[in-house]
Amino acid sequence: GKGNYRHFMEKELHEHPAVIGDTLRQYIDPATRAVARPALPFDPATLPRLWLSGCGSAFLVCNTARYWFETLARLPTDCDVASELRYRDPPLTEGGAAMFVSQSGETADNLAAMKMLRGGGQSLVSVVNVPESTMSRESDATLMTVAGPEISVASTKAFTAQLSVMACLALNFARSRGAIDAAEEARLTAALLEVPEHAAKLLDASAEIEAVAAEIRDARDVLFLGRGSLFPIAMEGALKLKEISYIHAEGYAAGEMKHGPIALIDAAVPVISLCPSGPLFEKTASNLQEAAARGGRIIAFTDEEGAPALRRFASRVVVVPKVDPFVAPILHAIPVQLLAYHVAVLKGTDVDQPRNLAKAVTVE
Ligand code: F6R
Repeated sequence: GKGNYRHFMEKELHEHPAVIGDTLRQYIDPATRAVARPALPFDPATLPRLWLSGCGSAFLVCNTARYWFETLARLPTDCDVASELRYRDPPLTEGGAAMFVSQSGETADNLAAMKMLRGGGQSLVSVVNVPESTMSRESDATLMTVAGPEISVASTKAFTAQLSVMACLALNFARSRGAIDAAEEARLTAALLEVPEHAAKLLDASAEIEAVAAEIRDARDVLFLGRGSLFPIAMEGALKLKEISYIHAEGYAAGEMKHGPIALIDAAVPVISLCPSGPLFEKTASNLQEAAARGGRIIAFTDEEGAPALRRFASRVVVVPKVDPFVAPILHAIPVQLLAYHVAVLKGTDVDQPRNLAKAVTVE
């Protein structure tokens, strides 16, 4: 049941801290604080190339994970939506592997892309939330997200659980490949283990997100901007807003805005940016300043370190806990999902059962 919550989505949003914690505990040895090596059909140390695929939000998890596998593990990684990958006929590297991410484990496009890659000699791993699902049966190995049943059609807690699994794998692969030293690994693992605590704090302070929701509820279009590993999270914010509030939204790479979408900007188009402090902060902040100079209404999600610079031109700055840039995408997923939820509630849509959508998409 929903307990004291109005919708399953609200209940599931509040389960973020618990499911991130449960998923991390599944992969991180509590005694050594090292990421345990999961049973895999390949050796990460010698893997030539990794494919990542899924659909919708799960694809955005793959997109985020690609930054981690590339930067931390120095592993060549490709990423595409399953509905395209299945028809791409890409050249496949001998000994390569693919990982498919899915909440339901039943998504037809994933199963078709898996079949194509299997035919090309790739080993297959699925990251799923439903044990004994079809994808799990069709894979050489299955890694579980520990999110529990997700009822709301819009994915929330499964998303952060998937990110948690991928972050653990990236650390494990980084060690196997000799791409990270012990001190850095310990620092990043510690940052990961602190995410549930920060997530809980964010959920306690959701009044500010409700204020942002009230501000954008009547918008016809919303732009979400992010850079680096926050770019897929910007796309997640846009996807969720489209799905449950029926507002047209686009997630864009912050630096790409000047190549087109900046033409759309006026006071009627809120620009929501994910801009935590870190090595990419200055670049994103200057993209936002350009949008503000063209009359854009900037709503920025940042941390206390990034806030002062953004307050000079943003109409609203929402401060989230400051974390290592490695885990920032996991944490920033929560406010953008919460925002979509509150906008949908204000608009009175059918939050848990949005029109035209199904929880598991078992047809092409
Ligand atoms: C997003 C959403 C969809 C799913 C997609 C994949 O909120 O619900 O985009 O993420 O249909 O579904 P699974 O993860 O079951 O493969």
